[in-house]
Parts: sequence; structure tokens; C-alpha cells
Amino acid sequence: MNILLLGSGGREHALAWQLAQSTSCDHLYAAPGNPGIAECAEIADVEAGDHEACIRFCGAQDIALVVIGPEAPLVDGLADSLRAAGIAVFGPSKAAAQLEGSKGFTKDLCERAGIPTGGYVRTTSLDRAVAALDNFTAPYVLKADGLAAGKGVAIAPDREEAEAALSDMFGGSFGEAGTEVVIEEFLEGEEASFFAITDGTSIVPFGTAQDHKRVGEGDTGPNTGGMGAYSPAPVLTPALQQRAIDEIIRPTVDTMRAEGMPYSGVLYAGLMLTESGPQLIEYNCRFGDPECQVLMMRLESDLAQIMFACASGELDAVKPEFSAKTALTVVMAAQGYPGTPAKGGAIDLGSAETGGAKVFHAGTSTSSSGLVANGGRVLNVTATGANVTEAQEAAYEAVDAISFESGFCRRDIGWREVERERG
Ligand code: AMP
Ligand code: GLY
Repeated sequence: MNILLLGSGGREHALAWQLAQSTSCDHLYAAPGNPGIAECAEIADVEAGDHEACIRFCGAQDIALVVIGPEAPLVDGLADSLRAAGIAVFGPSKAAAQLEGSKGFTKDLCERAGIPTGGYVRTTSLDRAVAALDNFTAPYVLKADGLAAGKGVAIAPDREEAEAALSDMFGGSFGEAGTEVVIEEFLEGEEASFFAITDGTSIVPFGTAQDHKRVGEGDTGPNTGGMGAYSPAPVLTPALQQRAIDEIIRPTVDTMRAEGMPYSGVLYAGLMLTESGPQLIEYNCRFGDPECQVLMMRLESDLAQIMFACASGELDAVKPEFSAKTALTVVMAAQGYPGTPAKGGAIDLGSAETGGAKVFHAGTSTSSSGLVANGGRVLNVTATGANVTEAQEAAYEAVDAISFESGFCRRDIGWREVERERG
């Protein structure tokens, strides 16, 4: 079959790399893509925001499956438009993508379905939000309801900062996303990510990961989209994964179906492993970036076949296989990130991939002088090993083979597990 992949980040490069190796994929198109994706796919001139153009492209190129990488086109209903035109899609409908598109929607669903998560209040009024702080204790967790490119969450250490953050949100610092705000109970524990693929009925576990959201070593400094990740995450033991499925994923999938919004695609659960068990922090309606890169590095099954089975409601026959190895990815970012990143810095990948590592392109472009930085997160240097310590060594060996003078990376990706492995 011919496949169209939409997106342009490191996540999509990893998906393209796997789809291109899938025996069930005849021809892979990608839009808008990036220079790494262009090595595995034919770049197509079609925009995810133009639903009619996507449908025309699929007709003209005989596309059997569209894979939607990022959340924005999903929340915008692109999957609905394509399905209405008879095209199979990997990714949820607009209604189902509310699990990421509205934090209040997800909290209400958890309440209806009895899913463990922090207590919450949702409101569209600054006065009511400030009054609702009385029901919580510090630190205060405040979230803009809508999509805010991962930036709509404030954790305020005291009441004064909480009130200031609420004023910012209602004052428009996140635009439309902040017209409603969710105040949440602060959950204590270690965070981990759990991935499941579902066609709305069947649920197939699709791996675990942990990422590093802060820009600085030792998990300091501002939040980012993620500076590195590894998979699997040993803290999510098989017993805890089963609890996550039984107590969180299964009730979500069943409730969404029962309420006429069946969820189809990958469901990415951000979990807090609390003393009483896993609790849901948030859902994403797509793969994580850079978590996808480590999952794809370990996947041994035909990704196109899994995605097509999901899109066709035939997931019950699918059993994805993953390597038992650990994969770890280090994000090389441009100086300035997560603020304004320096553009145009020269990159030479050198011999980074000779030892079996894989460099996924996140924010690169090609200039007359070669590869240059063109974004905040620029490269995802990914390697495998028998455990996190070995995968970390292999990844940094590849990082050190790359010349990217205007870039930087954290040197401690995987530190929690490396410490635990040291014992
Ligand atoms: P989110 O975008 O909802 O994942 O939030 C971003 C980050 O804020 C999470 O990865 C957590 O580190 C933190 N966070 C969000 N909600 C909570 C919560 N209820 N309790 C503790 N930390 C949270
Ligand atoms: N790395 C976090 C995310 O993709 O949401």
C-alpha cells in the first residue's frame, strides 16, 4: 500500500524510518517532512491544514493509509475529513482527540469512568479560579484547558505565584487555550509514559518510556518538549503496566466508545506512579516526541501493518514485537532553546551512525553549505544497549562524533536508571 505521513519532527522521522522498512508499505510520501524524512520518503506538496487538498492527494497517489504525527491536525478534525472520503487513517477523530485537546474533557471523563487522577476544578472565570485555590494546597497545578504546545502548565510553589499564573492564563498568554483553566491536585511520585494502540475496542500495549522535560542537567531550568528519553522504563513494571491498562486505559477506551467517540490510534498516557498506584497526569492523542524515537528504535514488527490494522478496526490480530534492548535518545538543541533558538548553525553528522546509532532529524534544513539547524530541537541521537547505562554510553559516543557548534545537549539523559543500575 501507499502511505502518506504528515509531520516534520524527529517523531515523524522515526515513524518514516520504520514505515519505509515495512514490507507492507510500497511507497511512502511525507509532508512537509524534513531532510532526514526525505531520505526515507518522497516529500509531497500537501498541507495538513487543507483537508480537501489532502483528500485530492490521496486520490491521485492511491494512498491507502494516512498517518498523522502531531496533535494539531488531529484536534482540527483531519482524520474525520479523510475517513468521510473513505481513506484509512492512523489517528483519532476530532471528538476522540479531545483527550489531548481539552484537559477539562479528560478530567471529566476520568470522573465519569472512575479513573485514578488528581482532584480538579475547571472554570472559565479568573475570580472563580482564584477562589477555587482554597480547595487545594501548594504546590498549585494550573493548566490552560486547550492545546498550548506543551507550555500551558504552571506549577506554582505558593498562592501568590498561583494567582499570578491564573491572571496570565486568563489574560491571554496562551490565547484561546487559556479561556478555560483546570486547577489540579499535585501528585507525588515518579513520572513514566505508557503507550497503547487501540482501534476503539482492542487494546495493544505499545511500550513504555521516560523522558526529561527540563532543559538543564539534574532536571533543572525551564520545561521543554523533551530533552531525551529511553525505553523501556523499568519503573513501569509488568504489574504496574497491567494496572495502568485495567484502571486507566481500558476504562478510557470503553467509555469513549460507549459515548459515541471511539478512540482509534495511539493513546499516550502520562502517568504518575504514586504510593497508591499509577494515576493519570494527562493523555496525548499521538506518539511522544522524543519517546517515539526510542520506541521505533526497538520495534521489530511491521509498523505499516500495525497502523493499518488499527485504522481498519482489526487490531485484535496484531502482536507487536519489541527488542529486549534499551533504546536511549539524546536531543541536540540549538542554543537559546526553549526560548528563541539560534538558526542556521552548521551540522556535520560525521561518523555518528557507524556504531549502530541512528540520528533522527527534528529541526534541520539543507542549505548550500550542507545541513543546518532550523528549529529548537534539532537532532535526536538514538542508540541501543543491554541496559540504560550501555545505551547511554552508545548514544553519547554518537553525540560526540557530531559537529554542531551552535548546539547543546544534556549529558545526563537516563540518570535515574543509571543510578538504579549502579545499585
Ligand atoms: P502536562 O502537560 O499535563 O503533562 O504537564 C506537564 C508536566 O507538569 C508533567 O509532565 C508533570 O511533570 C507536571 N504535572 C502536571 N500535572 C501534574 C500534577 N497533577 N501533579 C504533579 N505534577 C504535574
Ligand atoms: N515528550 C513529551 C510529549 O511528546 O508530549
